[in-house]
Amino acid sequence: MTGPTDTIAPTTPQQQQRSGCCALVAGEVAFAGSGPGDPDLLTLKVARALNDADVILFDRLVSAEILALAGAQAVLEDVGKEGFGPQISQDEICRRLVAHAQAGKKVLRLKSGDPTLFGRLDEELSACEAAGLGYQIMPGITAASAAVAGIGQSLTQRGRNASVRFLTGHDMKGFADHDWAALARPGEVAAIYMGKKSSRFVQGRLIMHGADRATPMTIIENASRADQRVIETTLDRLPTDLAAAQLTGPALTFLGLAPRASAQALSDLTMELA
Ligand SMILES: C[S@@+](CC[C@H](N)C(=O)[O-])C[C@H]1O[C@@H](n2cnc3c(N)ncnc32)[C@H](O)[C@@H]1O
Repeated sequence: MTGPTDTIAPTTPQQQQRSGCCALVAGEVAFAGSGPGDPDLLTLKVARALNDADVILFDRLVSAEILALAGAQAVLEDVGKEGFGPQISQDEICRRLVAHAQAGKKVLRLKSGDPTLFGRLDEELSACEAAGLGYQIMPGITAASAAVAGIGQSLTQRGRNASVRFLTGHDMKGFADHDWAALARPGEVAAIYMGKKSSRFVQGRLIMHGADRATPMTIIENASRADQRVIETTLDRLPTDLAAAQLTGPALTFLGLAPRASAQALSDLTMELA
């Protein structure tokens, strides 16, 4: 039997993932999550990796305060991609990761939030595997966790929703399709990433599948950062209120969640009317 402290010797790049160890390795790549922006939400492991890395390839949403924690020796490369805007190609990012690791550098690939969510991690892992390079993955706090904390709610609640979905508003083909019939059911909760441009599409699909127009929707811009903003709305008013807010930062939209004070007021009113 394998005990909790036993390890299996790595043989292939896949097996070389060092989930329990924190040091970066020369000639390998660490894929790390920088969290939602507040440096206090960075894990100690990622903070140490920032200090230790020779080369850091970072995404657009990694905050300046976090990049400031990089060691003096680190070369910082901005490989950020705008949703629908100017692009550095995924192939070029993969090429650079491999080239730096093959040159014997300690490479840190820093993505916002958690690297396993909407971060095109698999393409980069495959590039490492194809080149025979070792890698490790360092988790981070995803935007949904920071955003839900910002409105004093829970992602799941006994008696309301026993599951929660993480959706993207768009994918590489355009607006992303989902199980709209399931999402339209009362009590459903979903965290919609990259949902600003797709808000009218999401609204239309949900209403078409029978969702109540009064379903609470909350948009949290710059979750966890000093300039965090919360826009409370309903499915009916989602595109209108979103446009009026003129958001410029990253924003996450919750389907089925209102900020805690409003949710409480609504449930008090429902009890009074019953
Ligand atoms: C490419 S996805 C990356 C998600 C990231 N891997 C994560 O786990 O949070 C980028 C989207 O995440 C959301 N996002 C990231 N940081 C955010 C923040 N501080 N506040 C609100 N939304 C954020 C936005 O929807 C943004 O368009």
